[in-house]
Amino acid sequence: MNIKKAEFVISNTDPAKCPQDGRPEYAFIGRSNVGKSSLINMLTGRKGLAMTSSTPGKTQLINHFLINDEWYLVDLPGYGYAQRGKKGREKIQVIIDAYLDRREALTCLFLLLDCRHEPQKIDLEFINRLGGSGIPFAVVFTKTDKISQSKLTENIAKYKARLMETWEELPPVFSSSSERKTGKEDILNYIEEINHLILNRIPAK
Ligand code: GTP
Ligand code: MG
Repeated sequence: MNIKKAEFVISNTDPAKCPQDGRPEYAFIGRSNVGKSSLINMLTGRKGLAMTSSTPGKTQLINHFLINDEWYLVDLPGYGYAQRGKKGREKIQVIIDAYLDRREALTCLFLLLDCRHEPQKIDLEFINRLGGSGIPFAVVFTKTDKISQSKLTENIAKYKARLMETWEELPPVFSSSSERKTGKEDILNYIEEINHLILNRIPAK
């Protein structure tokens, strides 16, 4: 898919104030610093579109970006940033929960996982929560430039095995490096396939 146009639309904490035009949207979630905003910039080819930072906790709002006037990419705050303190984490969790529970336009949630780590409790709990709420999601292993191909294969296999302990079917799995600009085509093709189904849906007679 060719991204001809990518524009920032709105940031807020309340899903009710997000765009209400019914266009499909694809949101990015994961622990703070996992690379959500960087991935949005890499996918759109616009370096400063989403704000990134080497310090965790940069994105604190729900950010909508309109792509090709047809669909949205959504940058969400990260969960689990310890330094934010209990109150701060709860505040962010309220925003995330409200978005996930109430956002009807959410078509697919991309859950980002740092490919360097073993399966983490906080991520596994988050995945189970998605299952409980019936939210469609895909997994993206990020920062693949930081480990070897063999280690990446090993870590992804470990993760899949862990997920198979509780899930009958695995979600789609992607891997990416915003640094090396890899994974872009696979992720955009996946979005395009879903968009094609939604946007060209023949109205029921
Ligand atoms: P929060 O908004 O704080 O939740 O973080 P985020 O998940 O949006 O992460 P962000 O995109 O801001 O990136 C965090 C840090 O990781 C930045 O220093 C990025 O440059 C770095 N980073 C992101 N993706 C990659 C990647 O693929 N490879 C490498 N080497 N670094 C990356
Ligand atoms: Mg961010």
